[in-house]
Amino acid sequence: MLQVPPEVSVYEVSPRDGLQNEKATVPLGDKLRLIEALTAAGLRRIEATSFVSPKWIPQLADADDVARAVNLTPARIAGGRDVAYSALVPNARGLERAKAAGMTEIAVFLSASETHNQKNVNKSIAETLAAFEHTIGPARAAGMRVRGYVSTVWGCPYEGPVDPKKALAIAQKLLAMGCYQISLGDTIGAGTPLQTQKIVSMMLAEIPREALALHMHDTRGTALANILAGLDLGIRDFDASVGGLGGCPYAPGAAGNVATEDLVYMLHGMGVSTGIDLDRLVEAGRAAESIVGRPLPGKVHQAGVRSLRA
Ligand code: HMG
Ligand code: MG
Repeated sequence: MLQVPPEVSVYEVSPRDGLQNEKATVPLGDKLRLIEALTAAGLRRIEATSFVSPKWIPQLADADDVARAVNLTPARIAGGRDVAYSALVPNARGLERAKAAGMTEIAVFLSASETHNQKNVNKSIAETLAAFEHTIGPARAAGMRVRGYVSTVWGCPYEGPVDPKKALAIAQKLLAMGCYQISLGDTIGAGTPLQTQKIVSMMLAEIPREALALHMHDTRGTALANILAGLDLGIRDFDASVGGLGGCPYAPGAAGNVATEDLVYMLHGMGVSTGIDLDRLVEAGRAAESIVGRPLPGKVHQAGVRSLRA
């Protein structure tokens, strides 16, 4: 029998992971409209943007403006509840920008495979971890919460299979450096459920479950199956992207994350609460689709929630 908890936490990444991969740069006003729609749908953890180099990710060059604006989001949009807006930070320069924009949470990132890490941040894994001394520690000292991503845990687009022990060692280092949670990334959506069981069991033997999240891309349609495997083992935190928007520009062929609507539909159907209003989430997905001007792949997004009753 599947073990299902009463509730899980959904961490929305579409404004960052989704929009970083769009060919055309989305105007600032549309980004804010999307974030507002996600907030109104009940999402309480939203990765709003990324303070990386605009030369590397021109789509998110307006991170400073996005962050300043979301940090002023009126409480009425969030139904009076707190929303944690976060942003990627690759280095000390990114941290300074995040601080200046009033961010209270950031996310650092690196890969479990050398080649992807080199292509993504132009450094070796060891150099990246060393450089985190200039982001994680100072961010914590400034009262910020820091989340960590480990990418390519289920496979690397350049190296193929990756030894999960490498991801475990990195995750443990990030936690020791001050991250509150590590999001394990299936960057290229290669994972399958028994592999997920092996990876997650190995992680849970060393790391408390509240310090772990899954960040599954849905390139091959296995994201929900992998999430179910993680849920069954005790994971309670899942990343998702409305409509299935997204990918990684430095991982060829990577598609978007699991669609938030699909994740929430499945969870609610199993009696697991998320605090998210699925109807309003579907509206947010429609807003995302109109903003990027192309059909989005999410299944519930395409079917609509009311189709069951039609
Ligand atoms: P670099 O070229 O080695 O660094 O890039 P640099 O220090 O030589 O800087 C190059 C230029 O960028 C300089 O400008 C810097 O000032 C500037 P110039 O002197 O040439 O005019 N610069 C910055 N500007 C603004 N903000 C900054 C910043 N840093 C440098 N923070 C660097 C190294 C890490 C900066 C670069 O490689 C980079 O930005 N990479 C980010 C790539 C990225 O964002 N990838 C996608 C996110 S990861 C992902 O999607 C996976 C995830 O979703 C999980 C999963 O799916 O597995 C998280
Ligand atoms: Mg990703």
